[in-house]
Amino acid sequence: MNGHTPPSRSPDRHRELSLKSGILGDSEKIIQLLETIEQVAPTDITVLISGESGTGKELVARAIHHLSRRQEQPLVTVNCGAIPEGIIESELFGHEKGSFTGAVNSRRGYFEQAHHGSIFLDEIGDLPLTTQVKLLRVLESREFMRVGGTTVLQVDVRLIAATHKDLEQEVRKGHFRDDLFFRLNAVRIHVPSLRERPEDIPLLVRKFADDFCRDNHIEFDGLTESGLNRLRHYHWPGNIRELKNIVEKMIVLERGRRLDDRLVEKYLNEPAAAGKNLPMTVHLSKEEMEREFLFRLLLEIKSEIAQLRELMVAQTRPSYHLNPWREDQTIDYFETTEEESGGKKAERKSVADMEKEMIRAALVRTGGNKRKAAQLLGLSERTLYRKIERYAIK
Ligand SMILES: Nc1ncnc2c1ncn2[C@@H]1O[C@H](COP(=O)(O)OP(=O)(O)OP(=O)(O)O)[C@@H](O)[C@H]1O
Ligand SMILES: [Mg+2]
Repeated sequence: MNGHTPPSRSPDRHRELSLKSGILGDSEKIIQLLETIEQVAPTDITVLISGESGTGKELVARAIHHLSRRQEQPLVTVNCGAIPEGIIESELFGHEKGSFTGAVNSRRGYFEQAHHGSIFLDEIGDLPLTTQVKLLRVLESREFMRVGGTTVLQVDVRLIAATHKDLEQEVRKGHFRDDLFFRLNAVRIHVPSLRERPEDIPLLVRKFADDFCRDNHIEFDGLTESGLNRLRHYHWPGNIRELKNIVEKMIVLERGRRLDDRLVEKYLNEPAAAGKNLPMTVHLSKEEMEREFLFRLLLEIKSEIAQLRELMVAQTRPSYHLNPWREDQTIDYFETTEEESGGKKAERKSVADMEKEMIRAALVRTGGNKRKAAQLLGLSERTLYRKIERYAIK
């Protein structure tokens, strides 16, 4: 490297980078991460960001763009897991009018929209194999054609990709093309999990609590040393996203009072109500912990589903009585009497309502993590996104 020594480490520079990027932490791992971002950002090199869910991969991608010479140009973010397979190519590369049923107008794809800027392909491991071939061609030639088009378009785009999957393993399984993987893997940035850097927890808790209390005009008495310690020793399967959710939840539900380890314990997912009889496990690998977390959540969801099912059965029991107010005097099989619903006239639920509630419950359980919610519900992530949109779930 031209005999240059790397710029000396300065706490001020780290603080500034941290502030600019929103990536908080003063652990050695975060300092290294910030330094790598600073090194790669000004170049056009392709970056592949890996890391568990909720570790901050999207923040890293944004930081790379905003510290690059393309910062004034667009950053186009695409969640590859959320786009239905049938339209992914037209979304990425655009299409010409009439190229398929429903293509009433021509459309610029995300690559064209990102011209001179950056494109962030999130969850790149979910890209179908046929689209992977096309993406590789774009990366190699910087050229592509719209779906149904005949003109070759040139594009100047910097690619940033992210995945929570183990792409090497996906390559071995034949789910991801090795040529694309090698191309993407030019620079790999691995975002460490929160359990690998528990020393950052106090700083993060303070920041999340301060922001939340300021925005919501809440007084919060903080955590005791034992409360903070409990957070340091939790395994954080949902990483920073989970920490943020838990801090906000504790502040609201405990009405801002001072939190010790006993209060904190109530909010951690470890002793989940349904799973608390399971033996506590220690010394697990990351994958095992993730599996165990999902298993515990599954148990909880199963019990919620059972309750919902009971509710549904109670509410759809036919009552065969004539409704005297109806002119046509038809039998309304689904009218529930006050008596039957225990004095209260419960709201009747359709299958769609039940589905909506199950999706909502799964999202709450997973702290809003759609991928984990999809796993719990046994749906693909794409299907879950479609349903969330259909039912307008916030
Ligand atoms: N180092 C950090 N400092 C402050 N906030 C962070 C940090 N890392 C992540 N966050 C916050 O945690 C949440 C999750 O981050 P982000 O969406 O970037 O994670 P992700 O790795 O992309 O997750 P997923 O794989 O589920 O998409 C966001 O609210 C983000 O602002
Ligand atoms: Mg993300």
